[in-house]
Parts: sequence; C-alpha cells; structure tokens
Amino acid sequence: MILLDPRFYGDDMKAQSWAFYGSIKPRKIFIKRTKKQSTINYKEIVKRISLTPAVFHLSQRVNQIATKYAEQPIVPRGPALKPIMDRVRFMVADQLKIVDTHETIILTAAGSGAIAATVGSCVDNNGILVVVNDAYGQRQADFCQQLGITTFVYELEWGLKPELKVVERLINQHKVGTIGLVHGCTSVGLLNPVKEIGMLSHNLGVRLIVDGIASVFVEEMDINEWHIDSLICSTNKGLHSNPDLSFCLISKNYLEEMETRKNRLPYLDLFQTWQAQKQGSHPFTINIRALLEFEAALEDFIERGGLAGRIKLYQDRLAILRKGYKDLGLKTFIREGMAQQNIGTALYLPDGISYQSLATALANWDNGDNENYEIYSAQGKLSNVIFRIFNMGEYSLETYERFIKALGTCLRRLSS
Ligand SMILES: Cc1ncc(COP(=O)(O)O)c(C=O)c1O
Repeated sequence: MILLDPRFYGDDMKAQSWAFYGSIKPRKIFIKRTKKQSTINYKEIVKRISLTPAVFHLSQRVNQIATKYAEQPIVPRGPALKPIMDRVRFMVADQLKIVDTHETIILTAAGSGAIAATVGSCVDNNGILVVVNDAYGQRQADFCQQLGITTFVYELEWGLKPELKVVERLINQHKVGTIGLVHGCTSVGLLNPVKEIGMLSHNLGVRLIVDGIASVFVEEMDINEWHIDSLICSTNKGLHSNPDLSFCLISKNYLEEMETRKNRLPYLDLFQTWQAQKQGSHPFTINIRALLEFEAALEDFIERGGLAGRIKLYQDRLAILRKGYKDLGLKTFIREGMAQQNIGTALYLPDGISYQSLATALANWDNGDNENYEIYSAQGKLSNVIFRIFNMGEYSLETYERFIKALGTCLRRLSS
C-alpha cells in the first residue's frame, strides 16, 4: 500500500488519506506541473512498510492479476470458473495434506465471514464451548450467541493457556457437541495448544472448530493428527493474498451431518456452498479476481518451498526482529505453555512511552530511505499495556534491519 503515491491518488484522495491517517504528516512530493502533464520525482515516493497483520505488500505475481483481469474479466457463473475453482480447492487441500479427509469451501468474505459461516453451519443443537483467551475467541463466542446457538464460554485472561481439565469438565457439565477456539491468537501473539485440545475433543467425541486465520500456511499444523473438524481460514494472512476471500476446511464426515441440519445463516451456508463448489460453481457471485489472486498466492507459496519455506522465511525475519527487541531492552509478552506466533510479536510498551507517540514517530520516520513503518496497537483490555509488530507480507530481510534501527532511534527520542 503506497498511500502517498500520487499515481494512485488525485489531490482530493491524497488529502483524504492524510486526513484518515491523522497524525501522519504528509511527506513533500515534488510534482512539476505543466499545463499538459505533471512530472513526478519518484525518488521521493515513500513506501509505507506494513508491520501489521491486516494489509501488507504482496508478491508481484498476486499484484499482476488485477491488471490482467481488467483486460480479460471472467463471468462468475460461466464455464471459465470451474477449472479455476477446481485448481484452487485442490491446491489448498494438497498443500495441507487433507485431500482425502476435508473439503475446501471458499467464501466471498474476509476472515470474520468465515467464522460466522463455520459456527452458523457446523454447530449442532447441543451447543458449543468456546475458549476465550484473546479477541478472536471473544468474536467466535459473540457470533455464536448472535446466531442463537447455545454457547458456553471458558473465559481466561488474554494469553493464558487453557487448562485441559477445565475444558473437559465444562464439556461434560454442559454436554456440548462442539468446542471452538483460536489457534494463532493475533491479539497477544501466542498460539493456543490446539493439538492437546484436539486430542481431548477426540477422546470425548466432540467436534473441534479452530480459527486458523492467523496460522494456516504459516505455522506447523497437522489438521488430521490434531483432529480438527473445521478450520477457519483467510487468504490474506500466511498465504499473502488480498483480504477479499476466506475459506473453511471441513471434514467430509462433518459435512455429511450438515445435510439435514437447519441453516442459521443465509449466504454463508457451508453445505450449500460446498454443493455448488464441488460442481465447479458458486451459489452466488464469487469474486473471481480475488480467486485468481488466491491461486497466484498458492503457486507462489508452492514455488517458494510450501509450508517449510514459508516458516523459514518468517523465522529468518524473527531472528532479526526478536534479537533487535532484546537489544533495545523491549520486553516480550509471553505466557507459560503458549508458544509465540510466527507472524509477529507482542511487546510491552516501555515506561513513559505511549503507543500513539511511538506509532506516530515510526509513521513519520524520515532518514532518506523513503520508507516508514506502520505498527499495530494492542486490542481491548491490553491496549495500554502492549503493542504489536508483525512480520508479514513481501519485504526483504534488510527492511527489518532498517526497521530495528528506526525503532531504536524513535524509542531514544521519545524517552529523552
Ligand atoms: C485469529 C484471527 N481471527 C479472525 C480475524 C478476523 O479476520 P478479518 O479481519 O479478515 O475479518 C483475524 C484478523 O486479524 C485473526 O487474526
């Protein structure tokens, strides 16, 4: 995202984007205007490095799709859809080693749409126990309640590891048929023990729904060994595509159960969507440009070493970043028994420095590199305690080295 690039924004739009970014000062960009044309000094264009898990720079392969698609759009119900749909669904299942056991169901919605679709379609009338130890566990529980699903919550302080014996007691006490939790807890930078909970749910004979939005294609995960019946995923996190689509991986035997179940949510009905997609179609208009970007991101992922390659890429970045944080005296938010996520790190705010002042300093960073940095606040209860730095998207290792230097300078300036 190049917010200040005048190729993408007219003057009005530029003004709006600056207004939207509030405290971020616009950098001067020299535009020599003549009556007929303007010449832009591109050296002055600032690249905003996204250190967030939301929107970040993507590969050329993904970016090129929009241009090609503009030249040759594809009709969403026409015959051209089936081969693309078949290829994408197969590549996902193949990469995650679930071809024989699970179905990939693609939705035109960002990740939260897939959470709604999954709980709305999967949970049976016995209700669900949701583990809430971060913002997205809370979202899952809220969506269940809003859909009228019988919902029980195992609520913990954010980031704390859920205790297996408590999970077992609550399942037995409430006689629920399903347990739901988040794998990569983006709000605290930690991973829930899905493998352990999967073993428990399997032994107790309850279904397991996992929000894998922040972990699929970027964390070690064995969907079958961990007994995951339903994995909620989106295209824009570990896979590095745009946030227009999400997808759900549902075990084949779970889908069989859904045939007779009453659908709670129109438009996001997984059984209905699967019925159409296995024929290579979609019940509604699907975003084919985004589907082609999904495919391009998968090809890129495969070409660059699949899951092992993606994890190594992130570990190499983290080696630079986490050493940098330590050298700068920053304290990491960690909790016993909860591994850290590959996609980023939650750090305590240093004494006397607010998130806002640090974020503003980094967003206005200017030392001639023509890049500045967007970091992420924490959510909810933790927003005055921690902040987050993510290492997602298409950036070089040198970018993270430069960022650490910028972070050090900003911290020193703010504490002096
Ligand atoms: C674990 C998790 N679940 C759900 C979401 C929500 O996804 P979206 O913002 O695409 O709706 C996010 C977004 O960061 C997430 O990290």
